[in-house]
Amino acid sequence: MALKILLVDPDEAWLSSAKKFLIAQMYDVVIVNNGRDAQLSLYNEKFFAVIMNYDIQNHSCTQVLKFIKSNYTNQRVIVIIDNKELVDNGIVSEEKLQKLGVAEMAVKPFDLPYLKDLLEGHQSLGDLMAGVTKKEGTSEEQEVAATDENFSSIKIDEFYSSQAVLFDIYIKLKEDKYLKILHAGDSFSKERIDKYKNEKKIDSLYFHNSDRRKFIQFNNHLAKKLIDNKSVPIYNKVNQLKNVSEKFIEEAFTVGLKPQVIEQGREVCENVYNLIESQPNLFSVLKSFQNFDPTAFAHSFLVTLYSTAIIKQFEWQSKTTIETTAMACMFHDIGKTLLSKEFINLRPKDMSPEQFEMFKNHPALGLQIIESSRAINNSVKQIILQHHEAYDGTGFPYGKKGNKILTLANIVGLADDFVHIMIDDKLQPIDALRKILTDKVAVKRYNSILVEKFINVFVDPEKIHKEMALPSNSRVVGGKKAS
Ligand SMILES: [Fe+2]
Ligand SMILES: [Fe+2]
Repeated sequence: MALKILLVDPDEAWLSSAKKFLIAQMYDVVIVNNGRDAQLSLYNEKFFAVIMNYDIQNHSCTQVLKFIKSNYTNQRVIVIIDNKELVDNGIVSEEKLQKLGVAEMAVKPFDLPYLKDLLEGHQSLGDLMAGVTKKEGTSEEQEVAATDENFSSIKIDEFYSSQAVLFDIYIKLKEDKYLKILHAGDSFSKERIDKYKNEKKIDSLYFHNSDRRKFIQFNNHLAKKLIDNKSVPIYNKVNQLKNVSEKFIEEAFTVGLKPQVIEQGREVCENVYNLIESQPNLFSVLKSFQNFDPTAFAHSFLVTLYSTAIIKQFEWQSKTTIETTAMACMFHDIGKTLLSKEFINLRPKDMSPEQFEMFKNHPALGLQIIESSRAINNSVKQIILQHHEAYDGTGFPYGKKGNKILTLANIVGLADDFVHIMIDDKLQPIDALRKILTDKVAVKRYNSILVEKFINVFVDPEKIHKEMALPSNSRVVGGKKAS
């Protein structure tokens, strides 16, 4: 059954083109041009979302919002503003509308596909499922010509689906040529997937980037289920979370931090927290974790995992601290998206002095990207801004020193450097740790308490003390608070 949308706008021409567009996106649409009719429609039918213009007559927008708030508490409402001056002059603001129960505000002019984005951002997995038209069995395979850059891949062994496939699944035949092997709404066919895996030796499946959000939503849900299930091996849980996080980070790096992207990020971070919390033996996995590839997205996930594992060692750790840091880790390098493409994977040691100067801007650029997002809290912003500051004052952008640096930012900095060493030098985690510890200059970049907590993540600290020299300012602080 299609999801139903109520469109309320005085502009008849816009109403009919928006209706046409949303119907093509498989929504059911009801249109009205005034507030009174909007209330009447709400009284008669149940809607997945209401998209309402601020300038409606015959019951103002505020009146209708109050009516919705008192009668239909969980109704999703998106308000459209025609006149940007209302926002500029502070007459209308997101905060004010949020108080009236509005989920999002969109200022005209915008392209209609933006509406689709807004709506999809609010769909739960159940909504997604309801949105696909289920068919009995499996459709015919279909060859399509398409551009490689519009597709994302997933390892065939890691593809799971619900009973109905939520989006089209392809295999790649050759450059720019794909075969659609399952259509959205088809029953999930393990036989068909296995046929490709076993007979044709295919190891990756593909989906269109426009379905990436659905992929993340579904796999987040699956990750949560796996993490809660005690009989699933820990390695599978980490892997599932890795897949969903990487795709999430890729989405954030490509489409930017739209509210619906941030919302998904929150769910990913909650899963990171639940994983860390539920697994006392997670560290044995971290110790032997080798299943990474050198992309920026994999990098951000590994930084998330190791940073949160360090925090877990502290007495002051909490769900909020871990989720805040996880969010910051995923976005710590997002500022690089404002630099030219080469910076995404270029390492400082391979940069020219001019390039390095540019690179030093990425923490501030990251802050610039998320600054306007009220959905991201200030600690996340500060961690991103400070993730390259060093305890000995040799970092950037401000050259802050010692306790002037947020402990959480210094933790992210340590995990970030560690993951870079592990990936760049192709080292096992334990060898990357060894390399940091034995580099007397590098190790001064971090508060020694953090270094010791990091060691705790891997091994019995007493054992490693005997083998290597820790920095001169180090002391073993079993359970003491970090400054
Ligand atoms: Fe960075
Ligand atoms: Fe990084």
